[in-house]
Amino acid sequence: MAKENIEIHETAFMTSTFRSMDESLSQDNFARLWQNPKTGKWVDKYLDQVSSEESYTHCLRNRYFLKVIRNLVQRQEIQVLINFGSGFSMYPFLLNESLIHIEIDKPEIVDFKKDKIQNWQKENILPKRNIHFIGVDFSKNYEEELLSKINAIKVNMSSFILVEGVLFFLNRKETDNLFTFFNAIQQNGDYIGSASFQETIKETQAFKNLLSFMNQNVSKTSESACQTVEDNYYRCQKNYKLIDHQDYFSLSKKYGNKVRQAKELILNENFYLLKKI
Ligand SMILES: C[S@@+](CC[C@H](N)C(=O)[O-])C[C@H]1O[C@@H](n2cnc3c(N)ncnc32)[C@H](O)[C@@H]1O
Repeated sequence: MAKENIEIHETAFMTSTFRSMDESLSQDNFARLWQNPKTGKWVDKYLDQVSSEESYTHCLRNRYFLKVIRNLVQRQEIQVLINFGSGFSMYPFLLNESLIHIEIDKPEIVDFKKDKIQNWQKENILPKRNIHFIGVDFSKNYEEELLSKINAIKVNMSSFILVEGVLFFLNRKETDNLFTFFNAIQQNGDYIGSASFQETIKETQAFKNLLSFMNQNVSKTSESACQTVEDNYYRCQKNYKLIDHQDYFSLSKKYGNKVRQAKELILNENFYLLKKI
């Protein structure tokens, strides 16, 4: 029976599939490379049982962070993109080749991604990029080793840290550890982009659907999973200033996306941009 379940890392396949469902909205024409029949079945079930708006919410999340990072690269404000819980996102291939990428996720995910990407590059399906893959579990003691690996790549270059679709799966202590770690590796002028749900989402039908879907289909769902994060968590990050805050509805306006369902039936994710000062 466990074989039929979705493992946490498999949610990364689902995210990529959602992104591929409206490429003009997500601006990601490589996400479709991760499509596979097993994920396709889960995605259909999820759209039906949780929220049919989910493909658009994921497309807009990608669009927002892509735009933000692209602008900062153009303004020469960042040289390294460090993606925590990077899953199968394809930012390296959607951004200028000058950017250096550090992709961090569970070892099985980064190994699998690295292998696939190398093959697609050999076949000229993907362009060459400067990507470093690091396997880490955020629930373990990772700090010391990860710090030295990141420092060896980044030296003192400016960075953008991205953490999207991940905090939901972590508990508060793991999240606090991550943000302390971000502060340790970044310099003034560096950025963090983060995505998370707010507590109020728990009252919506869409969230109730999500919990029931997860309880039925996702392995190892604990009480500590499904974390929500309030605005204040970001506002109160020591050494950081919250410089932008968006959600699905504001991004829909910004990028001309038609909101199809009632609010109650949408998993409204919030997107934050922080700058180290
Ligand atoms: C929903 S996916 C999002 C992937 C990617 N950020 C994106 O937006 O396309 C969640 C990712 O978080 C990673 N993740 C969850 N818990 C983790 C942990 N404890 N340590 C490392 N990675 C974790 C999973 O392996 C998965 O790749």
